[in-house]
Amino acid sequence: MQFKLSVIGTGKMGNAIIKGLLDKNILSAEHITGTDANGEAKQHFLSLAANGQLNWAATPADTIKNSNVVLISVKPQNMTELLPQLKDANDQTLFISIAAGITLARLEAELGKHRPIFRVMPNTPLMVGEGVTACAANSQVTAAHHEILEKIFGVTGKVFIVSESQLDAVTALSGSGPAFMACIVAALAQAAYDEGLPQQEALEMSLQTMRGSAALLQQSGMTPEQLIVQVASKGGTTEAGLKVLQNSDLSQVLAQTIKAAAQRSRELAKA
Ligand SMILES: NC(=O)c1ccc[n+]([C@@H]2O[C@H](COP(=O)([O-])OP(=O)(O)OC[C@H]3O[C@@H](n4cnc5c(N)ncnc54)[C@H](OP(=O)(O)O)[C@@H]3O)[C@@H](O)[C@H]2O)c1
Repeated sequence: MQFKLSVIGTGKMGNAIIKGLLDKNILSAEHITGTDANGEAKQHFLSLAANGQLNWAATPADTIKNSNVVLISVKPQNMTELLPQLKDANDQTLFISIAAGITLARLEAELGKHRPIFRVMPNTPLMVGEGVTACAANSQVTAAHHEILEKIFGVTGKVFIVSESQLDAVTALSGSGPAFMACIVAALAQAAYDEGLPQQEALEMSLQTMRGSAALLQQSGMTPEQLIVQVASKGGTTEAGLKVLQNSDLSQVLAQTIKAAAQRSRELAKA
């Protein structure tokens, strides 16, 4: 399905999404229009397409005139100023907001309940095509809109359809998750450094071990428990390490980490 896309806020996330669409030939440059309040954003946006065919609009109101899909990728604190400028969009225009904590009820209140709207939570690995994107839809969204959503975010990773009430858990797990994973990678690398590995190699091995383990789990279809059994032979090194790990309060700490992040997500949505 061909569509015309407006991107409001061509910062880190907006540009990463556009780059994915161009790289994978999902949408041609002439069907994409960007706009951004930041004066330096224009050049960076236009340079995403080698043939220079991307379109630029001076204001959000101008951007939406020639598109049937609008991606809102400004910071949550900029939504109050932005949303009233989008009211004149065509009734059929699909809105996709990635602004954290901005609810479907708020989007409907400002844009109109009759419009199809997705509230989406992507994460930063989307920038390297390995993202998790969770999406909640309002009642006006149809199968055709889901197809468009899948096209836009499917090129930058995996897409999950969730209910809006699940987005706080998503925010904690995959939204904030890259930072939690980075903590684990860094702690394991530091421990291996303490055991005698050079710092850089320890970090690279730690990273590759996380990546390889995730790939093995995904590609083999094994459960995490089955992988543990496969690696840990009786009386071996893994078993010795697991005795420490499984008798520690790691599970509890990770549970508290996710709980705190989800709670903060709920608070921000109410603010
Ligand atoms: N980065 C993440 O990890 C992540 C993960 C999930 C979701 N998100 C969401 O993604 C959204 C974008 O994040 P980002 O990291 O890409 O932010 P960003 O790099 O700061 O990009 C946002 C851009 O929007 C511009 N802008 C602000 N108000 C505008 C307006 N009224 N009209 C047009 N442009 C406007 C900003 O300009 P100024 O700089 O001049 O303000 C900035 O260039 C946020 O809502 C965030 O919650 C981010």
